[in-house]
Amino acid sequence: MMKIAPSILAADFSRLGEELNKIEAAGADWAHLDIMDGVFVPNATFGPPIIKALRPVSKLIFDSHLMVKYPETYLEEFIDAGSDMITIHTESKGNLKKILERIRDSGVSPGISLNPGTPFSKIRRYLDHVDMVLIMSVQPGFGGQSFREEAVEKIRLTAEYARTSGRDIFISVDGGINRETGRRCAEAGANVLVAGTYLFRRDDMASEISLWKTFGK
Ligand code: DX5
Ligand code: ZN
Repeated sequence: MMKIAPSILAADFSRLGEELNKIEAAGADWAHLDIMDGVFVPNATFGPPIIKALRPVSKLIFDSHLMVKYPETYLEEFIDAGSDMITIHTESKGNLKKILERIRDSGVSPGISLNPGTPFSKIRRYLDHVDMVLIMSVQPGFGGQSFREEAVEKIRLTAEYARTSGRDIFISVDGGINRETGRRCAEAGANVLVAGTYLFRRDDMASEISLWKTFGK
């Protein structure tokens, strides 16, 4: 079943708790939390204290997407804050396999992500160590950008890995997702759709989400 993960990057930051309640009521499965350090990407958002404050407000799975250069630095804090999944980028620094293991050992699901310009071959070595591959379909840093086609082939390659390995992993796509690009990604094998701008701009988020859940069936 398709999972829908609205990105709160597009939410009203002055009312984050209510925005989480709104996406939960609209039928979202996960809340996608975009963490940016101002170094890995030219933008900065929020960190562990905000996640911790939001945790009691929502039952949604917290899907933390770390767009940070040094994911190891605040790893414990991101875990303790109540993330259910933590995704790091293959372009970031450190011993990524070790970081993924630490995430798993803490009872959190590890994920690996790659930028549009990064080939799929760069994440192969991590696939057996993650529960999720997060394929970026925009250059990370900002919401509201257009979907980049390179993502579709990477979704197919990840789906092929899942088939041949027999591993039931999440194949998530993030950036520029709307009704049309979401449907195409689902057809290519994505089973998680992350969307910020498009979903938050709709008055009928609930009906959009229930439509998206039928994609790829
Ligand atoms: C981009 C973030 C995305 C972003 C998606 O750096 O990782 O999660 O919020 O936003 P939209 O759906 O507006 O492209
Ligand atoms: Zn994201």
